[in-house]
Amino acid sequence: VKEVKILAIESSCDETAAAVVVNGREALSNVISSQIDLHTLYGGVVPEIASRKHIENINYVIEEALEKAGSTLDDIDAIGVTYGPGLVGALLVGVAEAKAISFAKNIPLVGVHHIEGHICANYVENKELEPPFICLVVSGGHTHLVKVEDYGKYTILGKTRDDAAGEAFDKVARAIGLGYPGGPKIDKISKEGNPHAYEFPRAKITDNAYDFSFSGLKSSVLNQINMAEMKKEKIVPADIAASFQNAVVDTLLTHAMMAVKESGMNKLAIAGGVASNTAIRAAFEQKCKEENIEFYHPSPILCTDNAVMIGSAAYYEYINGKRDGWDLNAIPNLKL
Ligand code: KG4
Ligand code: ZN
Repeated sequence: VKEVKILAIESSCDETAAAVVVNGREALSNVISSQIDLHTLYGGVVPEIASRKHIENINYVIEEALEKAGSTLDDIDAIGVTYGPGLVGALLVGVAEAKAISFAKNIPLVGVHHIEGHICANYVENKELEPPFICLVVSGGHTHLVKVEDYGKYTILGKTRDDAAGEAFDKVARAIGLGYPGGPKIDKISKEGNPHAYEFPRAKITDNAYDFSFSGLKSSVLNQINMAEMKKEKIVPADIAASFQNAVVDTLLTHAMMAVKESGMNKLAIAGGVASNTAIRAAFEQKCKEENIEFYHPSPILCTDNAVMIGSAAYYEYINGKRDGWDLNAIPNLKL
């Protein structure tokens, strides 16, 4: 069987990334140019700045990805690119670049859904993982509980009604003065905090038990901080962080286990930036061990936005026959 070598491009948010991936499972290179330092100045991602930086970086990032893989465009079988969801100006840079290369070198073009990419990150480091399984995708922009029926075939069981899990981490971190991006910082200081210092609420959605809501939890944390301020009491940031994180872990785990049980699938994977969280990993690992469920997660470098995951998703779309034309456009709210 012939190898399928894909050049993948990702630029949906604040990472300019390119990678070369073989048969959807093997990364020959993984280049990520992060803009985090730039956006930290503003406390979050500034779309206009993100687009400009993508334009400055993308050619170098692609060149480096090809070079590290020992490849040239002449041995690339297809180009995979994220075309949504994400920031429209950021997505457009990757899409335009992919179309230009595809046109100039006559290489097939495959548009990829960003969340499908996050899910497929699991295939790269877990060669034995195959659908069907349940995947919880938790990132700065998304909280999706997905039934992966087959390659390229997904059913969304639940998603967030308001804030994404990562967004909640970032907002709480800002409130306790930890700065941006908050997820990794909350993860770190929580290790010194008491997860039971505060009992923060765990939202339950009545009309779809698989859906999530994190805005009530976030408000409850902010109220707690404001109340302490009014009473001139000192808060212990590590206790707030640990108690907040505990509520998130609890909610995510309960939802994921419910999906595993009701689907009858015995495999659970997590993905997305928040899936790097050490408390989430530990809790999921332990619960899955107790319940005899196979548990999968990518390493942190493949949890955060990257192009390897896009190369993996593009491969499965490619072998299913998906090809895109010059009308491929960025779709900021693309549905899975
Ligand atoms: O997947 P990602 O890199 O970008 C999006 O597609 O959104 O996810 C970024 C999000 C941020 O909200 C960041 O705070 C969060 O992932 N994050 C974490 C951790 N590392 C990153 N949240 C909790 N714990 C972590 N260790
Ligand atoms: Zn992402």
